[in-house]
Amino acid sequence: MHNFHPDFLGEAARRIALKTYPRARQFVVQHLYPDTLRLLLLLHEHVPIHCIIGIGYSGNDDVVSELKAAGIRVVTPSFADIHTTVESELARSLAHCEEQQLELVIHEVGGYAIKALHEKFEASIPTVLGAIEVTKQGVWVAEALPILKIPQLNCAQTRLKEIEGKMVGEAVVAALDNILRELGYAMVGRPAAVAGYGWVGKGTVHSLAKRGMHVTVMDTDVIKLVDAAVDGYAIAQNPKDIGTPHIIIGATGHQSIHADIIDSLPNRSFIVSGASKNHETDLVHLESITLNKYSIHPHVDAHEVKGNKTLFLVNKGYPVNFTGSSVPDEIVEFLFCELIMLVRELLDQRPAPGIYPLKNDLEEVAAQIWLDLR
Ligand SMILES: NC(=O)c1ccc[n+]([C@@H]2O[C@H](COP(=O)([O-])OP(=O)(O)OC[C@H]3O[C@@H](n4cnc5c(N)ncnc54)[C@H](O)[C@@H]3O)[C@@H](O)[C@H]2O)c1
Repeated sequence: MHNFHPDFLGEAARRIALKTYPRARQFVVQHLYPDTLRLLLLLHEHVPIHCIIGIGYSGNDDVVSELKAAGIRVVTPSFADIHTTVESELARSLAHCEEQQLELVIHEVGGYAIKALHEKFEASIPTVLGAIEVTKQGVWVAEALPILKIPQLNCAQTRLKEIEGKMVGEAVVAALDNILRELGYAMVGRPAAVAGYGWVGKGTVHSLAKRGMHVTVMDTDVIKLVDAAVDGYAIAQNPKDIGTPHIIIGATGHQSIHADIIDSLPNRSFIVSGASKNHETDLVHLESITLNKYSIHPHVDAHEVKGNKTLFLVNKGYPVNFTGSSVPDEIVEFLFCELIMLVRELLDQRPAPGIYPLKNDLEEVAAQIWLDLR
């Protein structure tokens, strides 16, 4: 397997001459997949990792053992406990760095640690050199802080990330299709609705259409609705215009499958998330109207709700593509090449507090490495 996979990440580190930084430590909140394992082991040689918090719902035992074998502390809280675990582990890493006079670098997916740092550990902010962030969700968290007191460098809004969005949409639909096939259910010819026509939503819509679904698009941004209309899809400016979708997917990064939408869904529709957490669906409302609940598949719960209908919630409202293989590693790895470049930018440039997307010329290096090695 090792020989099978091109060494995109090692090549990225070599091409930018990534140094070792013995006076810095990483605090990591990441998914634990084979691709992240390669990234973490490589980065650990340059900036030693003090602690990794595995995002629970995608934990992988082999990955955890290999990280531990490399001498790295790994914690895998359930998704419900992630915030408290980030807080307690961050406290530990900050104390260690303060004691040893080291600098801490946050490396994360989703803005958990940057939020905890600002809200709970203000006095320790000078110990933190900055944060590196992979997702828009994490950038939105930094933007929402009253005052951002560290630099956050991100590869969340790059052109390569937009390209990855198409593949995330495909991964969302492929994962859902697998589950539906296991249930003996065909997507083809059925109506579907997708909330969000951004990078992930667009990929999701195209992939549903490729499987023969008739898709209606919802978005709070009218320009995105124009884009969807010009791409040939039905649009809904108002929840009542979504019709009777047999499948509804939220890919907005916010709550999009609101109570009124849930109430209007037809009997036997599937409720699905293509985002990053369990926020797309108003789960509180769904629970409040649920009279009886049972599992029909390891990743699908049937909710018998008021009004004599049954709604099927996929993966308890978490992203459906977190149930199995998602975006192919070689796609994710062009983003990880970008992340490696952010590490060098943060440690060598030491920027002032603020939000910094990866520079275009560095993104081109990542793209070139990918083309050269593929
Ligand atoms: N499942 C995965 O593997 C995976 C991978 C990458 C990103 N994501 C997540 O997917 C989500 C979307 O990412 P993106 O890059 O497509 O973002 P984006 O900003 O490109 O798109 C979001 C779209 O949703 C629209 N929107 C916002 N709130 C809405 C609402 N309430 N109703 C309808 N539309 C609404 C916005 O106008 C925008 O067009 C984020 O949460 C991101 O973290 C998931």
